[in-house]
Amino acid sequence: MDEANEKKVVVAIVGAGPSGLAAAACLNRQGVANIVLERDDCSCSLWRKRAYDRLKLHLAKQFCELPYMPFPSKSPTFIPRDQFIEYLDSYKSHFGIKPYCGRSVESASYDDQIGKWRILARNTGSGEHEVYVAEFLVVASGENSEGAMPEIDGLESFGGEVMHSSEYRNGREFGGKNVLVVGCGNSGMEIGYDLWSHGANTSIVARSPVEVVTKEMVFLGMVLLKFLPFRIVDFLMMLLSKLIYGDYSKYGLRRPKNGPFHLKAVTGRSPTIDVGAMRGIKNGEIKVFPPIKSIKGKLVTFINETRSRFESIIFATGYKSNVRKWLQGGDDLFNDDGMTKVRHQWKGENGLYCIGFSQQGLFGISADARNVADDISFKLQRRRKGNAWDVAHGMISLY
Ligand SMILES: Cc1cc2nc3c(=O)[nH]c(=O)nc-3n(C[C@H](O)[C@H](O)[C@H](O)COP(=O)(O)OP(=O)(O)OC[C@H]3O[C@@H](n4cnc5c(N)ncnc54)[C@H](O)[C@@H]3O)c2cc1C
Ligand SMILES: *[C@@H]1O[C@H](CO)[C@@H](O)[C@H](O)[C@H]1NC(C)=O
Ligand SMILES: *[C@@H]1O[C@H](CO)[C@@H](O)[C@H](O)[C@H]1NC(C)=O
Repeated sequence: MDEANEKKVVVAIVGAGPSGLAAAACLNRQGVANIVLERDDCSCSLWRKRAYDRLKLHLAKQFCELPYMPFPSKSPTFIPRDQFIEYLDSYKSHFGIKPYCGRSVESASYDDQIGKWRILARNTGSGEHEVYVAEFLVVASGENSEGAMPEIDGLESFGGEVMHSSEYRNGREFGGKNVLVVGCGNSGMEIGYDLWSHGANTSIVARSPVEVVTKEMVFLGMVLLKFLPFRIVDFLMMLLSKLIYGDYSKYGLRRPKNGPFHLKAVTGRSPTIDVGAMRGIKNGEIKVFPPIKSIKGKLVTFINETRSRFESIIFATGYKSNVRKWLQGGDDLFNDDGMTKVRHQWKGENGLYCIGFSQQGLFGISADARNVADDISFKLQRRRKGNAWDVAHGMISLY
C-alpha cells in the first residue's frame, strides 16, 4: 500500500454503536477532527439488526442517555427499541456525525517510527482495503460484537434449528414447537417469555444462580444508591425479590448468596429483570432444566440424565468482544478476551482509548466518552502550547 492511499486523521473511532456515536459527539463539540469506521451498512446495528422485537431498555431513560442529549420528556421511562433507534438517529444528525459504514477494521497497530496508529479497513462494498493513519485510536467495537456459543458434545448433530439470541426476532414461527432456550440472563428469560406467549412449549436451561428483579426494583435501587450505602440497598433488593418471587429454587432456579448490585459489582453479571417469564416458570408452563450434557439428533440429555426432544435451541449465552481479532498490541489496556484489564479503564498507552467496556451499559458509555474526548482534547491543546513554546524558544536562540 503506497502512502498516497493513506488517509490521515486525528482520531479514528472503530464502531458506530452508541459508544462510537458518543465519542464522535464529544469530540465534535470540542472541535477535534475524527472519523468513525463501521463494519456494518448502518450505525447501531446491534439495536437495528441483532435485537429481538420486544426489547425495551432495561434501565430507566435517565440512565441511558448519551452525552449532551436527554430523551424527549414525553418518552416513556423504559424506552422501546424503535424509539431508542430514533433517538440514536437524531443524536447522529444533531452532532453532525457521518460514520464511514461498510468499513470492517481488520487490523490496527501502533507504528513506533511515526508515533501513530495504522488502521486497515476492508471496504465491504468494493472489497478493497483502505488505510487510515491516526494519532488517536478509540476502540468502540463493543462488548457484544460476537455471539458466544458454548461447546456441547453432539451439538453439530442436532437435527433441528439452532440460533444465537442475536438472531432471534420473535416467537411467531415457534408456536406449538418444543423450544429450548439456553441461558437465563436477561436475553434468555425475555426470549423464553416471548416464546411462551407465542404458544411455544418452552424450556429454559439455568446454569448459574440468578437474582430475579423487576424493572421498578432496579429503578428504585439506583435512586436509593444516591442516599444509602451499597450494602443496605443490595439487602433491600434481595428482600424485595424474595417478597415478590418467593423461593424459586423449587422450580429449578437458584438464588445467589448476595443481592443484585453485589452480583453486578463483583461478577459484572446483570441481575435478571423479569418481564413475565417468572409467571410461566411458577405455573410450570415454562420448564427449567439443568445444563446440557450432550445432544444426539433431536434428543437433548441434561446433566441430571433427564432427556427431552426439542425442535429448536436458542443460545442466549452472551456475547464476546472481537478486539483481539484486529487490534495488535494494546496489552496495557486489553486482556486476552478483548476486555479491559482493569474495570472502568478507558485509556491505554500511545493514544489508545476504549469506550463501552466497563460492563455498565449506556450509563458507562456516556462517562467513558466524556473522559476520552476530554483527554484527547487536553493532549492536543498541550501539544499546541508546546509548539508555541518551541517556536518562541527558537526565536530567542536566533538572537
Ligand atoms: C439484547 C441486549 C440488550 C441490551 N439492553 C441494554 C439496556 O437496556 N441498557 C443498557 O444500558 N445497555 C443495554 N445493553 C448493552 C448494550 O450493549 C449497550 O447499551 C450498547 O449497545 C453498547 O454500545 P457499543 O457502541 O459499545 O457496542 P455496540 O452497540 O455493539 O456497537 C459496536 C459497533 O462496532 C461495530 N464493529 C465491531 N467490530 C468492528 C470492526 N472490526 N470494524 C468496524 N466496526 C466494528 C459493530 O458492527 C457495532 O455497530 C444491551 C445489550 C444487548 C445485547
Ligand atoms: C432433572 O431436571 C428436570 C428439570 O428440573 C426435572 O424435571 C427432572 O426430574 C430431573 N431429573 C432427575 C433424575 O433428577
Ligand atoms: C413440552 O416440553 C417438555 C420438556 O421438553 C416435554 O416434557 C413435554 O412432553 C412437551 N410437551 C409436549 C406437548 O410436547
